[in-house]
Amino acid sequence: MGANDDGSRMTYGNYLQIEKLLSLQDGPEGHDPLPCNDEMHFIVVHQAFELWFKIVIRELKEAHILLSVASVPEEDIPKIVHHLQRCVALFDLMAQQWKVMETLTPQDFLSFRDRLGTSSGFESWQMRAVEMLLGLESSQRIGGMDPMIHFEKLLAEGTISSDVMADLKTIDASPSLNETMRTWLSRTPVNAIAGDKEVLNSYVERHLEIMKSHGEQVITHMVDIGHGEEESIRPRIESGIAGAEEFLRPDGEIDAARVGLLFIESYRELPLLAWPRRLLDTIVELEESMLLFRSHHARMVERMIGRRMGTGGSSGVDYLDMTLKYRIFTDLWAVRTILVKRELLDDVDNPQFYGFAA
Ligand code: HEM
Repeated sequence: MGANDDGSRMTYGNYLQIEKLLSLQDGPEGHDPLPCNDEMHFIVVHQAFELWFKIVIRELKEAHILLSVASVPEEDIPKIVHHLQRCVALFDLMAQQWKVMETLTPQDFLSFRDRLGTSSGFESWQMRAVEMLLGLESSQRIGGMDPMIHFEKLLAEGTISSDVMADLKTIDASPSLNETMRTWLSRTPVNAIAGDKEVLNSYVERHLEIMKSHGEQVITHMVDIGHGEEESIRPRIESGIAGAEEFLRPDGEIDAARVGLLFIESYRELPLLAWPRRLLDTIVELEESMLLFRSHHARMVERMIGRRMGTGGSSGVDYLDMTLKYRIFTDLWAVRTILVKRELLDDVDNPQFYGFAA
């Protein structure tokens, strides 16, 4: 224990393979001349991000394993939250890390930018792995880009290994966190019963009724205080209710995952639902932290290269700004629009089921 294979003392340097790690900042093989201090800074900052990505991927995979079983034990939900919170902390940290990059001035960067050739963060397979693990679909990406086609090209060029490709293929073929979360949500016991269409439908009916009667109160109030005419307010309220109906029953078919989600968000005071709600909130926080990370990257890039084209061939900042529209967990964002304040809702049937003593 605590020793190297040959019995010698384990040291900091051995354990962390520091020498090996610190020998990797000279740029690609034959890089001539060796990096100046600004270029080395550029290399180290990228490598630091990639190390953080490595942990994020590991945490997401662990969270996924726990959430993808047919019945998630209650005590596993805090563990999943813990894995995802580490990802949030890392993205928060990475969003700040652009500050270090920004100590490079635009002129300093231009002095070695040509040495990057066409290499670009666009080719970061770990970043794409994170997006795929979470569930960003090609159809949601700018121009419907399929990252797997891009990686096939890199594999053919010999710039990524078959091991990396195999891992990406496994991720691509497996259900994402978003899909797994939906499957888990669809098993939510609504009014103490899981998976019963009739129960789900009557819960939805009741929720819509409450939305409607609250909507009527809002209309009366707005008109009374002179904040508009009924003709202009009513269509907005009614379209909100129609939107809720379409969200919960797309094309008339109940969406059990969304109904479960609404139920958890509505009755967050119930002990059994407290951790599931925390999990959903952590997923939203994770997506938000990723968006802020993207946004800070885009601002750093704007400051560094203005409106120039990226080395990866994209339009540069305009492309990066478009990625700020990405939303993976669309249901989690959308449910917020249809929530109703708790005191207007009915109490749940069988509260004991959710952990309250009678
Ligand atoms: C001087 C510093 C940097 C500049 C000027 C820069 C610029 C750009 C530009 C213009 C793009 C768009 C794609 C392209 O055409 O190349 C991009 C994408 C990207 N960059 Fe950077 N970048 C810098 C540093 C970094 C660092 C340190 C990382 C950390 C890994 C990073 C990660 C990424 C990622 C992951 C993408 C893909 C974004 C997406 O497609 O959603 N960049 N970068």
